[in-house]
Amino acid sequence: MAPTIPLLTPYKMGNFNLSHRVVLAPLTRNRSYGNVPQPHAILYYSQRATEGGLLITEATGVSDTAQGYPETPGIWTKEQVEAWKPIVNAVHEKGGLFFCQIWHVGRVSNNGFQPNGEAPISSTDKGVTTGLDGGDWSPPRRLTTDEIPALVNDFRLAARNAIDAGFDGVEIHGANGYIIDQFLKDQVNDRTDQYGGTLENRCRLALEIVEAVANEIGRDKVGIRLSIFANYLECGDSDPEALGLYMAKALNKYKILYLHVIEPRMVQVGNIFETPYSTLPMRKAFNGTFISAGGYKKDDGNKAVADGNADLIAFGRLFLANPDLPRRFELDVELNKYNRATFYIQDPVVGYTDYPFLEG
Ligand SMILES: Cc1cc2nc3c(=O)[nH]c(=O)nc-3n(C[C@H](O)[C@H](O)[C@H](O)COP(=O)(O)O)c2cc1C
Repeated sequence: MAPTIPLLTPYKMGNFNLSHRVVLAPLTRNRSYGNVPQPHAILYYSQRATEGGLLITEATGVSDTAQGYPETPGIWTKEQVEAWKPIVNAVHEKGGLFFCQIWHVGRVSNNGFQPNGEAPISSTDKGVTTGLDGGDWSPPRRLTTDEIPALVNDFRLAARNAIDAGFDGVEIHGANGYIIDQFLKDQVNDRTDQYGGTLENRCRLALEIVEAVANEIGRDKVGIRLSIFANYLECGDSDPEALGLYMAKALNKYKILYLHVIEPRMVQVGNIFETPYSTLPMRKAFNGTFISAGGYKKDDGNKAVADGNADLIAFGRLFLANPDLPRRFELDVELNKYNRATFYIQDPVVGYTDYPFLEG
């Protein structure tokens, strides 16, 4: 008998029966023209769907102020909800489970993406200076305390819309330097109200969003993604271990489905570093499903699952380039190489749905 492949063993995530542990990580693909998901996404996502496999969508805007990159999808209008439906259906037809990652970029934007050319909103009025992608970021405007409930409400409505579109659940994007991260991290958040200063205050927005979304759609359909140890888009923290542990414990109160954490080794998007940090304390503190992501290959993914360090592993670039990634792991065959140059282009086919499947 062939040895068991830990990544390909079944797992029960709340009410969902997963047949394997290879998750499609959220991947922005910039092919949703006018912020509306397009028919070509039907093929893209269904190529990656498997019976009992979990897919997470690309980051999807919660409102008309949520965008900072070209042609990213949204889920705040009726048209967008309708446009998601056939995509979700196609994934379900293949037996896949599909979560929508809901997102607001905060200060990682510019006036050109904002209604009436206004300033992007954030926890702060300090702008991003250099930017991860060499983006052209405008100076942000600090949200006033009494504007925050409306932001929380946008996430709540987006989650409702995601369920209406047929998604199985949502992943709140609390990672990678976007608005929630801009509140969590003390190197960005310079507020003096109840949303800044202490750990409790900096985590308040994230937890209010979690609570609102869980109350709206059910806690068993809610996950959150965090990149506590990263410093993307100048969004770092002076004590990430304390922040991570505080969040993992605080999330237990809401009994949500999963916590999805980016490995500390992903100090920068795309490059692996040695760091003294570990996600294990967060894994141990959190009571729900733990998804780990960041730089995984088959072997260390298997090891993380076998050692109990994670329940599921999300693969980004490997899954982008290998639509049949779980099958390739099963057969232990060569993987297609990803082409970075086509990650973010707007072509509906190239670098998107043209990565080959295994023959036969
Ligand atoms: C093209 C591309 C787009 C990405 N878009 C998102 C996104 O929309 N939301 C998100 O949380 N992370 C996003 N990420 C980060 C990935 O989900 C993942 O954490 C990262 O690529 C590291 O995992 P990997 O080594 O398996 O690729 C993106 C990464 C890439 C390469």
